[in-house]
Amino acid sequence: MAAHRKTLVIFGAGGDLSTRLLLPGLGQLLAADRDIELELIGASNIELSPDAWQEMLRTAFAKGGADPDAAESVIARSRYFVADATDADDLRRILGECATSPALYFALPPAVTEASCRALDTIELPEGTSLALEKPFGTDLDGAVALNRLVSRLVPESRIHRVDHFLGKSTVLNLLGLRFANRIFEQNWNADNVEKIEINYDEKLGLESRAGYYDKAGALVDMIQSHLLLVLALATMEPPSTLDSDDLRGAMAQALRATRLWPGEPQLVARRARYTAGTIDGRDLPAYADENGVDPALGTETLAEITLAVDNWRWAGVPFVLRSGKALDDTRKDIVVTFKPVPHLPIGLSGPTAPTRLHIALDPNGMKLDINVNGEGDPFTLETVSLEADLGAGQLDAYGEVLAGILTSDPSISVRADVAEECWRILTPILEAWKSGAVPLDEYPAGSAGPAGWR
Ligand code: BG6
Repeated sequence: MAAHRKTLVIFGAGGDLSTRLLLPGLGQLLAADRDIELELIGASNIELSPDAWQEMLRTAFAKGGADPDAAESVIARSRYFVADATDADDLRRILGECATSPALYFALPPAVTEASCRALDTIELPEGTSLALEKPFGTDLDGAVALNRLVSRLVPESRIHRVDHFLGKSTVLNLLGLRFANRIFEQNWNADNVEKIEINYDEKLGLESRAGYYDKAGALVDMIQSHLLLVLALATMEPPSTLDSDDLRGAMAQALRATRLWPGEPQLVARRARYTAGTIDGRDLPAYADENGVDPALGTETLAEITLAVDNWRWAGVPFVLRSGKALDDTRKDIVVTFKPVPHLPIGLSGPTAPTRLHIALDPNGMKLDINVNGEGDPFTLETVSLEADLGAGQLDAYGEVLAGILTSDPSISVRADVAEECWRILTPILEAWKSGAVPLDEYPAGSAGPAGWR
């Protein structure tokens, strides 16, 4: 018998998240040998014939590179139900169909997920039920606290998977090996040696017909609130003794508890901007404000850049700049660690020196270390060269890892309740400053590097 036996119930099974990311991720997982015995149930409010459901699975699994035999055996046993995830009777019916412990994955908008959890609160859940909730977890600190209170009534914390797919990215998880398996980095990973750390996630993609969700979130909540703050936690936390869920998530929580907005004028430490019409790779993009479904009066930003401090012994005085935006001229998805200059450069060595910099690429996977050496020519003249490594892809994509955690009952890469709240706490002063109009909404043409004067 397999070590892990689960019935995965996907609510919103026919939707974009499920077909584009979850099911292909599941397909990848079926190809990896993780000792999981899986039953799959799809549910949504859309009518789907059994054949159409099976065909949808076949296509998505193939996209994930599933082993065809493993895929067919899951497809043949899988079932699909038309159901309202917010209706207690429908939920009871679906739970009654689960032969093994159910993992309920809400691939639904946050408000519907919340309503579904309220309905679950009125019925008895089978032994071993686990929950998987997509980001954003709540819409502000109070909302996250209330949602935590609700889900904690349903199942124990160890069976609540607040999903952030960045924690499933091999590039993000590589931070652990890089930092904690090499003396040379960890010894220098502190305020004595580091000048600043930047975490960038610039995308060329624009709104991509997601106004319904994005216009109420914006770049800060969509990207920084969870994804980049979790990357920050992994980059700044103390070395954990083990990578089990308590140690890993405890270390991340401790780092985030020390994190706050860098002191200073809000317009300098929490900048925001929105794209106007422009061209990216020969494709014309309308101004964000003119996109279908956008309410320009909401003043939603498509680019956010914030500076944070991690107030503890290790990091006091080091600025952390987190930035993410859409419709930019280039994709720049990396962590850049800039080291301080040497305390004394021996007289006699000359030439242009640049700071030693470590670039950790978040997509695609890679690393680059810029160092000063006496290169070719005069041995006393310095030049900056780069050591580069292409690290290749992980065995599973981010959603494959996320599902592996859920189906093997391992919450290590799920966001813990207190971590979700800390992420909102850190951003609260920014959300308030932006709401009060204290920070102007700058503009940049789509396809540019951002507003003039920002970099
Ligand atoms: C999602 C955001 O969570 O992450 C998107 O909602 C963003 O706006 C995406 O584009 C980026 O992640 P990835 O893994 O697709 O690069």
